[in-house]
Amino acid sequence: MTDPEANSEDSADGESVVRRERFSGGPARAFLSSLSADERIFAADLAVDRAHVVMLTEQEIIGEDTAGEILAALDDVETDGHDALPDGEDVHEAIETAVINRVGPDGGRMHTARSRNDEVATCIRYRLRGGVLDLLETVVGARKQLLDVAAEHAETVMPGYTHLQPAQPTTVGHWLCSYESALARDTARLFDAYERINQSPLGGAAFAGTPFDVDRERTAELLGFDGLVENAMDGASARDFLVETTAATTALATTLSGLAEDMVTFANRGHVKVADEYSSTSSIMPQKKNPDTLELVRGRTGDTTAGLNGLLTTLKGLPRAYNRDLQRAGSHAYEAIDSVTASTEVAVGAVVTADWPAEKLEAAASEGFATATGVADRLAQSGIPFRTAHEIVARAGEHEDPGIDEIAAAVEAELGEPLDAVADRAAIEAALDPVESVRMRDSRGGPAPSAVGEHLDRARDSVSEDQTTLDERRASLAAAATRLDSEVSQYV
Ligand code: ARG
Repeated sequence: MTDPEANSEDSADGESVVRRERFSGGPARAFLSSLSADERIFAADLAVDRAHVVMLTEQEIIGEDTAGEILAALDDVETDGHDALPDGEDVHEAIETAVINRVGPDGGRMHTARSRNDEVATCIRYRLRGGVLDLLETVVGARKQLLDVAAEHAETVMPGYTHLQPAQPTTVGHWLCSYESALARDTARLFDAYERINQSPLGGAAFAGTPFDVDRERTAELLGFDGLVENAMDGASARDFLVETTAATTALATTLSGLAEDMVTFANRGHVKVADEYSSTSSIMPQKKNPDTLELVRGRTGDTTAGLNGLLTTLKGLPRAYNRDLQRAGSHAYEAIDSVTASTEVAVGAVVTADWPAEKLEAAASEGFATATGVADRLAQSGIPFRTAHEIVARAGEHEDPGIDEIAAAVEAELGEPLDAVADRAAIEAALDPVESVRMRDSRGGPAPSAVGEHLDRARDSVSEDQTTLDERRASLAAAATRLDSEVSQYV
């Protein structure tokens, strides 16, 4: 076997120090550096370094002894932690310096056949996929909780609104299911983004490939990626996976902002009592109990939306292949994920701990003649054209709090016939009751407890499918981590 390290020219003493000094001074030093922000990708960079060194060794690009020394040094660097890193422009350079400080010039072989450009792109993807899985775990857990509370409240009648005006009675369960459905789509969008995050650009080097015989599939496999970003220039440049992820996260934040707003208005009307632990009070007005957590969920959506805008603005018009603007891109996605993960927990926590005053809600559900549509539906079901039924009920609605007598009078006025001649009076009267009004709307996806019950079964199946997908993704990453550990242990 030939010595893979023979004839190499890159072991000149202190090369990294020279490099470091070249960039060490000047007023722009802190401006250039991403080292402290890179704490987020410290663990990712160590994994990427390890996989790269294992691959270089298997490809006989570096020797096994050198690999052993570099991998041992990486273990030390990990133990000492990000805060102990030497100064550097970023975490990649600082870890390389730390390795060279321990191993000597041969430590510099770690950076053979790669660039910080493919390295950082790989680290961001590695770090982001973990964040997305954690967010997905939170969202899937939240959906389960919402469905449980929806099942408890499948018969808790409440007013439903359009234009914030009383519209038709519904149930707390139906309302909760509506948000779970939206969160199911947010889940799907995040899974979809994950597919494109989890591709490896590693081995593309600066953007232009490398003469070394690298095995890109091997590093991808060792790092748990599902495939390659094939084109090296694309690999260094592409950040659209950040756009997708931040957009999906922003869509989720937007869902939560609506949920929060509903809770704020419900609390305002006395339709829900937010638990003390999700409320705040006033420093001057002793009687106040405010739904501040939900207002913050609503408000934080602004940060996330701004982050998406910031990311797109940073990326717009960037030329190929690597430009330092990209150093500003990742944080938008990480921050969006962190913030929205917290918002999901808090919003759903506030909803599931809230108290729904059933009697008050039921009384409120018929306010503003909200049962009118159900009455018109019943008249139409007895053969009156719907538009005529609508006219009849509208006429009855001119009275304050109309009952069956006002409806009967309106039928006579409109049709010249008594109510009993055209419809089943008892059925019409029943439709004025908000409980019956809900019960009769049992079309698929409707609020009737029977329809909500069927929806709940389907929704629970879909939540458990999503949980399975999530578990599979996690298991695949855990298996890759174990594989990488065991490969590394062969050299250390
Ligand atoms: N800190 C840089 C980043 O986050 C790493 C890549 C630097 N590459 C370069 N050509 N200057 O994007």
